[in-house]
Amino acid sequence: MLVVARRLDRLQSLAGEISPQGCLVHCIQADLEVAGGANDLWSRIIDKGFSPDLFVNNAGFGLYGNSLELPLQRELAMVELNISSLLVLTKLAASQMAKGGGGTVLNLASVAAFQPGPRMATYFATKSFVLSYSQALNEELCARGVRVLALCPGNTSTAFHTVAGTTRVKAMQKMFAMEAKSVARQGIRQIDSGKSVWIPGLLNQAMVLIVGLLPRKWVTHLSGQVLRAD
Ligand SMILES: NC(=O)c1ccc[n+]([C@@H]2O[C@H](COP(=O)([O-])OP(=O)(O)OC[C@H]3O[C@@H](n4cnc5c(N)ncnc54)[C@H](OP(=O)(O)O)[C@@H]3O)[C@@H](O)[C@H]2O)c1
Repeated sequence: MLVVARRLDRLQSLAGEISPQGCLVHCIQADLEVAGGANDLWSRIIDKGFSPDLFVNNAGFGLYGNSLELPLQRELAMVELNISSLLVLTKLAASQMAKGGGGTVLNLASVAAFQPGPRMATYFATKSFVLSYSQALNEELCARGVRVLALCPGNTSTAFHTVAGTTRVKAMQKMFAMEAKSVARQGIRQIDSGKSVWIPGLLNQAMVLIVGLLPRKWVTHLSGQVLRAD
């Protein structure tokens, strides 16, 4: 197994946890929000002799705030990580899988992918890209033995909210949050299901169902109400 992030110390402690269970873990330090970061990472994966049959694009972050006040450079970095790097790595990994024995690319989208998000406009839009792109690619590639699965979690207890600044959103604090392990387990279980989308948790599934039934204008207004800081 190969794990990637910017903080090597955290990767190494993760490797220390997993390795005793009989899985050899390699760590690569990489920053995927800089231009060229994804291509550079792929070269290093190939150089190490890896040919993945499961590739998970998990890294991503959000930004909370009034759109005109958010720093443009951070938004562009978010687009680079959540969209550009995911696109590059999905394409490279899927091409390799199509040439070899097939495989699965698991892309982290979100329930945010199903609706616009006032005060998180760019983040919600990046996740809509991930959902749409993954579903389309899955349809194109399934005949070649490659599956692309968009995993769409709802509120999950991770560092995401501290990074995004959504700890200021009162409604978010009251919202039910799933454990990250449970979300990850559900995603892994769906790999051989043939599905192109999976929403972990019954509450999240119900919410997405309701969002799909309501007029888009109402959904956008409601989403804006939930994402108010006060
Ligand atoms: N938590 C939620 O409520 C929620 C809900 C729906 C979807 N999601 C999605 O789930 C995914 C995982 O997020 P999370 O909740 O686990 O957040 P998290 O706790 O902040 O984890 C983000 C992970 O991505 C890595 N990462 C961040 N920026 C990176 C960069 N520039 N280059 C390489 N790696 C980077 C981080 O490691 P380093 O910081 O060490 O690089 C960390 O391992 C994201 O795509 C997020 O949008 C989260």
